[in-house]
Amino acid sequence: MKICVLPGDGIGPEIMAQALRVLRALDLDFSFEEALLGGCAVDATGDPFPEATRRLALESDAVLLGAVGGPQWDTLPREQRPERGLLGIRKTLGLFANLRPAILYPELANASTLKPEVVAGLDILIVRELTGDIYFGQPRGIELRDTGNGNERVGYNTMIYSESEIRRIAKVAYEAAQKRNGRLCSVDKMNVLECTQLWRDIVSDMARDYPDVQLSHMLVDNAAMQLVRNPKQFDVMVTGNMFGDILSDEASMLTGSIGMLPSASLDANNKGLYEPSHGSAPDIAGQDKANPLATILSAAMMLRYTFAQEDAAQRIENAVKTVLAQGYRTGDIYEPGTTLVGTRGMGDAVLAAL
Ligand code: NAD
Ligand code: IPM
Ligand code: MN
Repeated sequence: MKICVLPGDGIGPEIMAQALRVLRALDLDFSFEEALLGGCAVDATGDPFPEATRRLALESDAVLLGAVGGPQWDTLPREQRPERGLLGIRKTLGLFANLRPAILYPELANASTLKPEVVAGLDILIVRELTGDIYFGQPRGIELRDTGNGNERVGYNTMIYSESEIRRIAKVAYEAAQKRNGRLCSVDKMNVLECTQLWRDIVSDMARDYPDVQLSHMLVDNAAMQLVRNPKQFDVMVTGNMFGDILSDEASMLTGSIGMLPSASLDANNKGLYEPSHGSAPDIAGQDKANPLATILSAAMMLRYTFAQEDAAQRIENAVKTVLAQGYRTGDIYEPGTTLVGTRGMGDAVLAAL
């Protein structure tokens, strides 16, 4: 099992170190090879996604990523920014299906900013399309145009989905719903955007192939509201790249903290990139404060989806449940009466539980 390890920037290296300790403790036949992605790669090579990283990622069975980005790189030309590296590796590996499960561990019911009864028992899966939409659509840019108000700068992007792109992500979502509670909610903005009208038409057409799945549709603004009003109405949600980005951060707070939300980004053959849903958290980087559980849980998703090691995946997930039950908390999920630990301390606790 050849794993490409990309610690990245900010808290990336700190949380990755803990995930690697956990994986090594499983005593499975892994080989880990590290490479540069993001700001660290820009500093070393001038390119956020260097050729050596591209080659290693392509020849590995899976990629494990910390996070990329930070304010020191925000003024670079767009093609040199760390985030371009992340988008580049997703596109290069064809990782069109981003699975972001939001599960509330019972011990964290009070860590959520929502009332415990609203979030207790929460278990939803957001299926986000990851290689299309306004993130990649052409044309895009900032340029001078005569707008009727004289010559001025305009900024523009293109929201675009092809039928085949919609079909393949909808298939992933329908199949996920079949394995879960059989309910799928497709989120769009078809009242305004043609692109998402096509999305709704195709997802609806496909429903006849999945008679065991109960399909519903929701406009994205309502979905954002329903996620905080009554999140337990959802089982699987499927949506495009940008709406999925926003809704998954929103869903993360239902679970107590964005530091708890793992993710898997998969191609058609379950080759995958695994990363926490959060970013590089520059505000707490280098302080041993970051919650490593989202990264550790992403490693569990890697064992499940790419390597079909369900037992090992569950061992990690059970160890996480154990440390939460034992009362260990990083700052983002801390509440009085629990034991405050740092990034490394949380890694120690997970190892002990394993
Ligand atoms: P962020 O997710 O990095 O941080 C948002 C807030 O959540 C911060 O207050 C941060 O301290 C906190 N937080 C995030 N992860 C945490 C963890 N594991 N434990 C405890 N607290 C945590 O989002 P941002 O501040 O908008 O972005 C910072 C940088 O990260 C930007 O450069 C952005 O582009 C990048 N980013 C990268 C990824 C990725 O690599 N997948 C994802 C999102 C943002
Ligand atoms: C995420 C991040 C990325 C995205 C950024 C950093 C490019 O926010 O993984 O959710 O928007 O996809
Ligand atoms: Mn995001």
